[in-house]
Amino acid sequence: MKVIIIGSGLAGPAMALALKRHNISCKVFDLRDQAAFDGGFVALAPNALRALDRIGVYDRIRTQGWNYEEFRFLSSRNLSRIATVLNGSQRKYGYPALRISRGIVRQTLVDVLQEQQIELHFNAKCVQFEETDHSTVIATFADGYIEEADFLIGADGIHSRVRSHLDPNAVPTFSGQLGVGGSLSKSKLPKSGQEMYMPCLILGKLNSFMFMPCTYSGDRVNCFATVEGEDRSREEWTELQNDKSALYEILQSHHENERWPEVVHVASKSVDLSSLSLWPNNYYKVPELSSWSSSSGRGFVIGDAAHAMPPTGGQGAAMAFEDALTLANTLALLDQKESAPHQDLVSQWQVARKDRVKKILAFTSKGGDMRKSSASTFQQLVKEWVMWAYFLLRGKDAGLSWIYEYDTEKLVL
Ligand SMILES: Cc1cc2nc3c(=O)[nH]c(=O)nc-3n(C[C@H](O)[C@H](O)[C@H](O)COP(=O)(O)OP(=O)(O)OC[C@H]3O[C@@H](n4cnc5c(N)ncnc54)[C@H](O)[C@@H]3O)c2cc1C
Ligand SMILES: *[C@@H]1O[C@H](CO)[C@@H](O)[C@H](O)[C@H]1NC(C)=O
Ligand SMILES: *[C@@H]1O[C@H](CO)[C@@H](O)[C@H](O)[C@H]1NC(C)=O
Ligand SMILES: *[C@@H]1O[C@H](CO)[C@@H](O)[C@H](O)[C@H]1NC(C)=O
Repeated sequence: MKVIIIGSGLAGPAMALALKRHNISCKVFDLRDQAAFDGGFVALAPNALRALDRIGVYDRIRTQGWNYEEFRFLSSRNLSRIATVLNGSQRKYGYPALRISRGIVRQTLVDVLQEQQIELHFNAKCVQFEETDHSTVIATFADGYIEEADFLIGADGIHSRVRSHLDPNAVPTFSGQLGVGGSLSKSKLPKSGQEMYMPCLILGKLNSFMFMPCTYSGDRVNCFATVEGEDRSREEWTELQNDKSALYEILQSHHENERWPEVVHVASKSVDLSSLSLWPNNYYKVPELSSWSSSSGRGFVIGDAAHAMPPTGGQGAAMAFEDALTLANTLALLDQKESAPHQDLVSQWQVARKDRVKKILAFTSKGGDMRKSSASTFQQLVKEWVMWAYFLLRGKDAGLSWIYEYDTEKLVL
């Protein structure tokens, strides 16, 4: 069995490593340059780490980020605690949560992939994907190169080219929000910041501001805000991404006013310019796809290409890893049973994954609502109280164990 993977973000390399476990060979192609390194940070919940453990990546990244279990919501008025939730637990889920540079996660995946001698081609932009009538797929690249295989997997992100072949109407639209943040040395924070529990989300009147340690020792802190913004073209987004002083201005202008406590003023002023980064991508919404696979059941999309995931649930990368491992298991089944009812297996995989992603999306949008702006201080107080009561009723695991306990190996088709 031969498999082509388009994209070496997070889903693509995870897919390649998961196939390798089944001795299925594949080739990975990415339009990026070898030297590209992603900015920003991700929080990996236990379900993401369990998947990474299965493909031999967890032990390599575990000590390159901040391991934590409790996450707190604080009020911007006086930094008092509104709620505490568990984002991970060694005892309950087998893994804590890990806040880590997204670039490190991706680079480690790519390193392991190359150590396992899986072919990875950079500067390879896939421009077309076709299905032949003799049960193969053909990918065409911008330089004219053509590759034929039994299966093709589009792990090519939110603006996926492969998806446009499966469902041309699924066009991403901007949600009106963008994430801006960077990191700074923890020692630069004032006393109130040194004493404040982290990781935490400070709920302000107009937006929220996150503090997350992001190194193993906790000496650096990633701070991050979600603010309103206008849509731009992809070129303009890239331009803004590279314009560090413009990003600084966005972060500053939202947080210098008296509605925010001192720790937020200082953090948004002292953040290291070179670390600033912007994430418009996950603030794009993609309509639910009619199908994640092509009519012949030989072309697939996974990760952000299949389902844009708002960042408020911290599950975008996790869903990408879960898709990859479960699809690899499905392809391995197809490989074993030559005569297996191919379309049945493919659709069973799809039904199971769509159902899971739908539930995660519902949870994620709840998280987004909590962070929306309040018109008055009274409204802000009411919102805080409602949140306090909600989490009190649900207990510390906040009813999230169905998310964190998920095990890709337990999906039996
Ligand atoms: C602000 C923010 C915070 C987030 N926080 C979290 C978090 O806390 N926890 C979490 O789990 N997730 C988080 N995420 C989500 C997570 O980063 C994404 O869901 C994840 O990166 C998706 O991986 P992917 O491989 O599907 O896509 P990507 O990482 O976007 O990779 C796609 C790859 O495909 C390549 N490509 C695209 N088109 C082509 C083409 N035509 N030919 C060849 N190659 C192509 C690209 O160069 C890229 O390398 C966050 C996202 C954002 C924006
Ligand atoms: C993959 O191949 C190796 C070496 O030939 C073998 O030891 C291993 O059992 C195989 N694994 C699977 C899942 O078939
Ligand atoms: C913060 O404000 C709330 C409500 O106004 C109050 O109950 C609480 O005691 C205050 N906490 C601190 C630490 O001042
Ligand atoms: C931690 O829990 C909160 C509350 O449910 C949630 O909003 C956040 O996305 C979670 N983060 C991760 C990484 O699971």
